[in-house]
This record gives sequence, C-alpha cells and structure tokens, in this order.
Amino acid sequence: MSALNELNQEIAVCQRCDLYKYRTRAVPGEGAEDAEIMFIGEAPGWHEDQQGRPFVGPAGQYLDSLLAMINLRREQVYITNVVKSRPPGNRDPLPQEITACRQWLDLQVEIICPRLIVTLGRYSMAMFFPGKSISKIRGTAQKRDNIIYYAMYHPAAALHQQSLRQVIEADMLKIPSLLAEAEAITEAKPEPEQLSLFD
Ligand code: URA
Repeated sequence: MSALNELNQEIAVCQRCDLYKYRTRAVPGEGAEDAEIMFIGEAPGWHEDQQGRPFVGPAGQYLDSLLAMINLRREQVYITNVVKSRPPGNRDPLPQEITACRQWLDLQVEIICPRLIVTLGRYSMAMFFPGKSISKIRGTAQKRDNIIYYAMYHPAAALHQQSLRQVIEADMLKIPSLLAEAEAITEAKPEPEQLSLFD
C-alpha cells in the first residue's frame, strides 16, 4: 500500500478532536500521489461527509469546472481540506480542531511534495499566509522552501456571491503560468525575527 493510502487510512479513524463524534465518514482527501498541485479547502460539508470524498457537493462541481478551465481533471491534482471531518451543521472549524488536524495536512504535503499549494478560502489561507486578508492577497503567490503558495477565494463563496466568479475564474487561469514561471517567483522574505540575528 502506498504511503499516502496508509496515511489516509489513519486519518479515516482519527479521534484527535471531537469532530469524530459527529461525522459519518472522515474525508482524508483524494487525487494523485505525485500531484504537482494541491488544493486545500476548509472542511467537508454534508455531501463530503456522506461519501468520504472531498469537494463532491455544489462547491466541488464548481471546482471541477474551474479545473477544466485549465485542462485538468481532479484525478491529476490532490484535493483535501484543513479539517478532515465535517463540523456539525457546517459551522466554521474551531482553532483547536484546525490545530489537531494540522499534522495530517503536513504529512500529506510531505508525501505528495507538490510544486504548488492552492489555498481555497480564509481558513486554508490563514495556515500559509498568517495575518493576511484574503481580499488583498488572492491571486498572488509566494515561494517558500521550493513550494509556491497561491491564495484563491473558496469556490462556495463564488457560488453565493456572483461578483466573485470572475475573480476566482481569473485566478484559476493564472495557475498554468505560475507553474511554468516557478523559478521567477520571489522567495518570501525571512521573518523580521530572523533578520534580527544579523543586527
Ligand atoms: N467545502 C470545502 O471546503 N471542502 C469540501 O470538501 C467541500 C466543501
């Protein structure tokens, strides 16, 4: 069995936070183990919880059509979420749930080793662009340790707010050139604390 399948089997029975009490099925993620691009959403919704698969409801259908705009199918990328079990009533994930689940996401990134991580929505953005505002940084990329991080709105937001559709679609269309120009993207600056080492 592949390392990713083994990991996902562990995630499927995870009890690190209370969300396991409410879920029908955990939703570890799916796609290619050698994917170049990883999409990270927020949390499974009702459809995902029923099927144990990420982004299979209306937001997922829209994500599929966004992928098709750049000639990709979901099997060619990896799709997962910040938290792997559905919060009851689709409430926002709590900080302790996000922290408890973070280790799984880090291990998935380590195994898949993507060139590009696309954050979908605020929660996923906050993990990789802490303290930033999505409306300011969406459509922009940062390179750190050889991975490009790219923030986009959540597809569900564009379903609810028609005016975001154009924005999310334009941001999706930038992905092929981002990958092609990976070398040209500026490395993120070290944190000020690190700079102070040289004072
Ligand atoms: N929204 C998400 O953030 N993730 C899913 O898997 C489905 C909807």
